[in-house]
Amino acid sequence: MLDRREIEAVRRVLESGRLRAGRITEDFENRFAAAVGARYAIAVSSGTAALYLACRAVLQPGDEAIVPDFTFVATAAMVAAVGARPAFADVDPETFTLGPEQAERRITSKTRALIPVHLYGQPTDIPGLARLARRRGLRIIWDAAQAHGAQFHGRDVGSFADAVCYSFYPSKNMTTGEGGMITTSDARLAREIRLLRSHGEASRYRHIRLGHNFRTTDIASAIGRVQLAKLPAALGARRRNAARLMRGLEGLPGLQLPQIAPGRNHAFSLFTVCIDRKRTGISRDKLLQALGERGIGAAVHYPLPLHRQPVFRGYGSDQDFPISARLAKSVLSLPVHPGLNADDLLYIVQSVREILKAG
Ligand SMILES: Cc1ncc(COP(=O)(O)O)c(C=O)c1O
Repeated sequence: MLDRREIEAVRRVLESGRLRAGRITEDFENRFAAAVGARYAIAVSSGTAALYLACRAVLQPGDEAIVPDFTFVATAAMVAAVGARPAFADVDPETFTLGPEQAERRITSKTRALIPVHLYGQPTDIPGLARLARRRGLRIIWDAAQAHGAQFHGRDVGSFADAVCYSFYPSKNMTTGEGGMITTSDARLAREIRLLRSHGEASRYRHIRLGHNFRTTDIASAIGRVQLAKLPAALGARRRNAARLMRGLEGLPGLQLPQIAPGRNHAFSLFTVCIDRKRTGISRDKLLQALGERGIGAAVHYPLPLHRQPVFRGYGSDQDFPISARLAKSVLSLPVHPGLNADDLLYIVQSVREILKAG
């Protein structure tokens, strides 16, 4: 949530006249790196840019990278954008994230990297995937666009090797309007990503890579610093809201609540349930519509698995990804953001219960 603090921070940047990425961005990067426990943080213009730059730094054209079939399109699109091939893998039926078994099945002689997604804010099986990567000589780019503040056994997801990509889009746990961040503790990777972020420029007007302009601004970073300071409170509110929804909705036949795997501290960017139509007697889409009629902004993340996206035609069929195909038809995200109060949450719980009962 934004308040006077962000407005004041932006006002100061505007009054200074120094809008481009400078001192404030550097400070935002340092604070972000410290917050997650990584050595480096590199601020960029979006989460998609973060993924693109990490892919450019790790993959060569013709390589393959393993991506969960059930995620936002950018995870796979950025692999393709650097000339590599995303190899889709099905996801775990409990956590909806890519697990080591699913990933291992998709490894070929061309595989160079895994790109697991901490979907909805739930960490994947980080140690399992890291072991697999070590054993098979692969790099890992973690998509943490939805997972600011998520932890595995008390360790922040942003501290794991090789690189971690964040989004600061307004719907995320913290925002800069548009923006993103890459964290890593690998000095070479950090240098490469910094080069690619800004025209491959090693020194003034000397370009040693074909780079881009994926820089952020001090305006965005000023917002980011305030948002980062607010993140622990925002996460606390999200987790409390999620616990209230869990308590209120537990025991409803045919409604699968978020399953938090052992050792994981979920960031609850989204609170996503799964509707078994046969048992509830009502489809996901009908429930979505009925909640909308009561003024509840539920949403579907995501209605199509990647292999069914028109841009990825030919990457497989529903038989290859049965869990992902089922989730796309049955998931529904209920509001969980920090702006909700106890009455709002009660209203959501009662509405879901009433709609399912009427079936
Ligand atoms: C899982 C995932 N990956 C990548 C992105 C891309 O981030 P951005 O919208 O900042 O480009 C998002 C954000 O929507 C996301 O949810």
